[in-house]
Amino acid sequence: MPTQYEILQNLLREKQSTWLITGVAGFIGSNLLETLLKLNQKVIGLDNFSTGYQHNLDEVQTQVSNNQWEQFTLIKGDIRDLDDCKEACSTADFVLHQAALGSVPRSIEDPITTNENNISGFLNMLVAARDAKVQRFVYAASSSTYGDHPDLPKVESQIGNPLSPYAVTKLVNELYTDVFAKTYNFKTIGLRYFNIFGKRQDPNGAYAAVIPKWFAGLIEDETIFINGDGETSRDFCFIENAVQANLLAATVQNDAATNQVYNIAFGKRTTLNELYKLIRQRVEKTHAAAQHANPTYRNFRAGDVRHSLADISKASDLIGYTPLFSVEKGLDKASKWYLNNA
Ligand SMILES: NC(=O)c1ccc[n+]([C@@H]2O[C@H](COP(=O)([O-])OP(=O)(O)OC[C@H]3O[C@@H](n4cnc5c(N)ncnc54)[C@H](O)[C@@H]3O)[C@@H](O)[C@H]2O)c1
Repeated sequence: MPTQYEILQNLLREKQSTWLITGVAGFIGSNLLETLLKLNQKVIGLDNFSTGYQHNLDEVQTQVSNNQWEQFTLIKGDIRDLDDCKEACSTADFVLHQAALGSVPRSIEDPITTNENNISGFLNMLVAARDAKVQRFVYAASSSTYGDHPDLPKVESQIGNPLSPYAVTKLVNELYTDVFAKTYNFKTIGLRYFNIFGKRQDPNGAYAAVIPKWFAGLIEDETIFINGDGETSRDFCFIENAVQANLLAATVQNDAATNQVYNIAFGKRTTLNELYKLIRQRVEKTHAAAQHANPTYRNFRAGDVRHSLADISKASDLIGYTPLFSVEKGLDKASKWYLNNA
């Protein structure tokens, strides 16, 4: 029997809608762009290139036909500017709002800039999307919202106190969408991403995520640092699962499924020590020096939660989310890309 996602992909191929992706030049945004263009959709992209790259968009162009690429319009603009948000939303049927400043450590070093992008920018997007009467506003929420809540697996209704300025911003996003639903009858869905990984995730810079950083480090024969004892665990989730969740969330017809937040993860916990071995196994196939590599352990990082594991049954029940890529399968795909792009 076909999955709900397969049915949706067939429907989209037959009927074109207009999608706005904010943060389109970033990791998740550029993967959403690639999938939607391949499904013959029209896409408006908004990005200020603060952490995103033109080369991500150039790579998407190589993956789609000329006709599909012509369905893409880029607006170089900033979600902190309401006029840019209004222009971007004006013709959109669906909004996939990804633009934000990621990274817990960045938010600890510069909470004001994180707040301006992730809260003021978010509110601008909500107002612009509401005024443009878009059909659905899907946004990138975060597993950081679980904060210090000790229970595992994480269920959407049980959150703790935020442990970083970044987590505060993502919680405030959820509070605003809830108020917009009640006050303006505006339909939103928040996707609490759990450590998404895959091609085009930036391996460079002080705030790089662990998987691209370790791939790049092992390929380049650099020292890999593990913060803490390596038994910290995460529910790592391959990008194609997250793309699936966005498309399902944007189009789900069931009213009970809207004005909700959903865990978007694979539903399995991997420790950093296990992750290191999984990445090393893949890199050593082409870079023999990695066989002898070992990580260097250092202090735990401020603001980090110890364990993370999602209960994904709500997304499965209400929007038909069926993640197809395990961590191992996702790492196989990601490693091909990192090895080719090193
Ligand atoms: N990657 C993950 O594991 C993860 C986990 C939880 C939540 N998220 C959220 O998902 C979203 C996308 O994350 P990502 O990993 O693709 O990050 P990314 O940094 O690769 O992409 C973010 C994009 O947003 C753009 N952007 C930032 N501020 C902007 C602004 N003011 N105006 C316009 N564009 C702006 C950046 O230039 C970039 O292209 C973010 O909201 C992030 O908080 C990601």
